[in-house]
Amino acid sequence: MADDTTDTKSSNQMWGGRFASGPDAIMEEINASIGFDKKLFAQDIRGSIAHATMLAHQGIISAEDKDKIVHGLNTILSEIESGNFEFSRQLEDIHMNVEARLATLIGPAAGRLHTARSRNDQVALDFRLWVKEELQKTEQMLTGLIAAFLDRAEEHAESVMPGFTHLQTAQPVTFGHHCMAYVEMFGRDRARARHAIEHLDESPIGAAALAGTGYPIDRHMTAKALGFREPTRNSIDTVSDRDFAIEFLSIAAIAGMHLSRLAEEIVIWSTPQFGFVRLSDAFSTGSSIMPQKKNPDAAELVRAKTGRINGSLVALLTIMKGLPLAYSKDMQEDKEQVFDAAESLELAIAAMTGMVRDMTVNTARMKAAAGSGYSTATDLADWLVREAGLPFRDAHHVTGRAVALAESKGCDLAELPLSDLQAIHAEITDKVYDVLTVEASVASRKSFGGTAPSEVRKQIAFWRARN
Ligand code: ARG
Repeated sequence: MADDTTDTKSSNQMWGGRFASGPDAIMEEINASIGFDKKLFAQDIRGSIAHATMLAHQGIISAEDKDKIVHGLNTILSEIESGNFEFSRQLEDIHMNVEARLATLIGPAAGRLHTARSRNDQVALDFRLWVKEELQKTEQMLTGLIAAFLDRAEEHAESVMPGFTHLQTAQPVTFGHHCMAYVEMFGRDRARARHAIEHLDESPIGAAALAGTGYPIDRHMTAKALGFREPTRNSIDTVSDRDFAIEFLSIAAIAGMHLSRLAEEIVIWSTPQFGFVRLSDAFSTGSSIMPQKKNPDAAELVRAKTGRINGSLVALLTIMKGLPLAYSKDMQEDKEQVFDAAESLELAIAAMTGMVRDMTVNTARMKAAAGSGYSTATDLADWLVREAGLPFRDAHHVTGRAVALAESKGCDLAELPLSDLQAIHAEITDKVYDVLTVEASVASRKSFGGTAPSEVRKQIAFWRARN
């Protein structure tokens, strides 16, 4: 005979009316989400207070019951915040943990709170509120990272470094310009976070299990009380939608990809072979066996966290892709993915902001590297177009011969004697040497968005006004 009296086998006090016995231990383990959804306690309590207030306003519950409920919920909030709350796995999730405690605190009035709602709209609400706050935090953190880059860009608007394509020296650029490329990327990430907040800014509460409710609730009232623009329009969609979580993960994945590219550059730049930057002691580690080493661990971990975030995005897309409308328990698995990705993203942005602010830039190394690899070859070709009237394709060919000659002599383009250059093309004069320096090269690229220090300063001013 089933033993209905033991703790693990007693039927659930929230939904156990039709159950003779409680769940098997394994059932309880696979079913419970309290281990992770307790993170939603503040949102859950806020949502319940708004719901109870609306129920009383609409005459669905009495004002006295509402007062008891609100008072009890505030007590629970301080209990949880001060670590004096015992979460129970038998009570499955945060919603039932809070409600059971409310019943202990205020008695039968607690049972009225769940009128005209379901855990389906409740969890949709709690999670939306959490994701909204996380997106706001992401926005702020990205603003901090952008500010760090703007400062470095201003400091290095004139510092010349090699620009790369295929990781081969391409043309000289300024380090300020390179920093501003990241400002553009993180600026787009921030805009995506803002858009996502607009998309999710609809209140799910009142959708109930899936079909809405027969009680005369006011969803506009709860939406307003919870800081949403308006209520959602379709109750079926409301309880089966996790787009807001997937959008957060997509944004995190794209921002993570940007952070990871930056991390990769820092790893490369901080090698002794490049020596473009030196990380501060605060953002690097040593080796236990090789005393000379300074490792860019924080950058490497940012690169790795990005892999985790991508995994979370793919996991949630996969969890959702086969679900018939409306709610299915599969959806409970949404939270850990989002929580883990949020933690990784926050850490990655914070670590990158610190590294960018603290790293020492070796402008001498950058400049020396900028001048090697025939980086001003395009400037020679452009000079031939401008000063000797050659079509660009011919100028390209002539310049290629000059590069080949310099290579065979083991020198830079600027080190070729004029006689050598004139042997390749008779119209070359000694004025050409003016464009062959890296400073002249970057200063000449004044096209909108180009690398010239004057342009970079304009880009900095543009972003300063928006940050
Ligand atoms: N813990 C659940 C979740 O996270 C809450 C919703 C449960 N709804 C239900 N009908 N069983 O999704």
